[in-house]
Amino acid sequence: MTIALSHLGRGDVTMAFQACLDALSLDPFNFVAHKIAIFCVSNAKQDQVEFLAGLWSNAFLPGFAVEVSEELLIEAFVEHQDRYELFIGLANMALQTGRLARAEEIAYYCLSPLDEAGWEGRVVEEKYDQVANAYDNFPFHAATAQNFLDAVKTRLAGKANLNIVEAACGTGGLAHGLRPYARHLTGIDLSHAMAERAKPHYDSIIVGDMVAVLAGMDRAADAVFCCGATYYLRDLLPFLRGAGAALKPGGLLMFSDFVAPKGGDTMVTAGGTKRYFRSTDLVRALAQEAGLVEIACDYGVSYRIPCRHWCFRT
Ligand SMILES: C[S@@+](CC[C@H](N)C(=O)[O-])C[C@H]1O[C@@H](n2cnc3c(N)ncnc32)[C@H](O)[C@@H]1O
Repeated sequence: MTIALSHLGRGDVTMAFQACLDALSLDPFNFVAHKIAIFCVSNAKQDQVEFLAGLWSNAFLPGFAVEVSEELLIEAFVEHQDRYELFIGLANMALQTGRLARAEEIAYYCLSPLDEAGWEGRVVEEKYDQVANAYDNFPFHAATAQNFLDAVKTRLAGKANLNIVEAACGTGGLAHGLRPYARHLTGIDLSHAMAERAKPHYDSIIVGDMVAVLAGMDRAADAVFCCGATYYLRDLLPFLRGAGAALKPGGLLMFSDFVAPKGGDTMVTAGGTKRYFRSTDLVRALAQEAGLVEIACDYGVSYRIPCRHWCFRT
């Protein structure tokens, strides 16, 4: 697989993919070859995905459909220590081929039960202080924001002049999409460096922990949004309570959250960037405890991982 990796290193995804297919035709259960091949498919242009996924499936076991190949792979590597990237890649491939529910199920295989210490705010803050300058260079960051904004559009249709709060605003990737609905647009972020980059796009910026800041907002907001950040929260309830306290009666809360299997409650990714995933049942129960009423729980995509776009009102 050194050949595939050296092609990838030079940015030649097609040659890397071909080298993987060659390796898979010799050994259909070559873990690394699958990992790289799926990475290539996951990063291919949309109109190429089905074709490449077909080639991958065929090199793996000739004549098999992609869905069958996926299942065999899951069976073979479900206990593999380094399975995170393989299964996230597979989940993304399912997303890109329009199989949203299946993508969510495949992502479950990246999860472990909750048995470690949570993220500390300080660690998240330091991480984003370091990546702030490069954050906007990654196309999948912008794609995540756009996917969330598409959902926002359906919930805010016909609305304007709102007092909007965006929790965990990062560098401000959502601001342009929220602006048409806003009378006042506030961004909150833990990281000074991210907030500094966001500043030009908001009417006001608050540097701090969104849970505490929201809790102190005293029913001032018409809408609260949070895209791609609740996965840092081991416990979602304080966030939901904080958002509830920040919203006027009838105000709207929308956020993205990764999904754990039914009965899984809160789980954490095994390997890769540590992220918390929650079952939809748990989110519903916590929201009810926080006094929120569900409006929607739509399929979405966050950082190439299937997620839900939740919408509640106070
Ligand atoms: C992946 S970025 C998403 C940024 C933005 N929402 C977007 O979609 O472009 C996650 C952001 O959440 C922020 N963040 C994470 N936990 C936070 C917390 N408890 N309070 C405020 N910001 C937080 C990080 O500093 C980072 O800027």
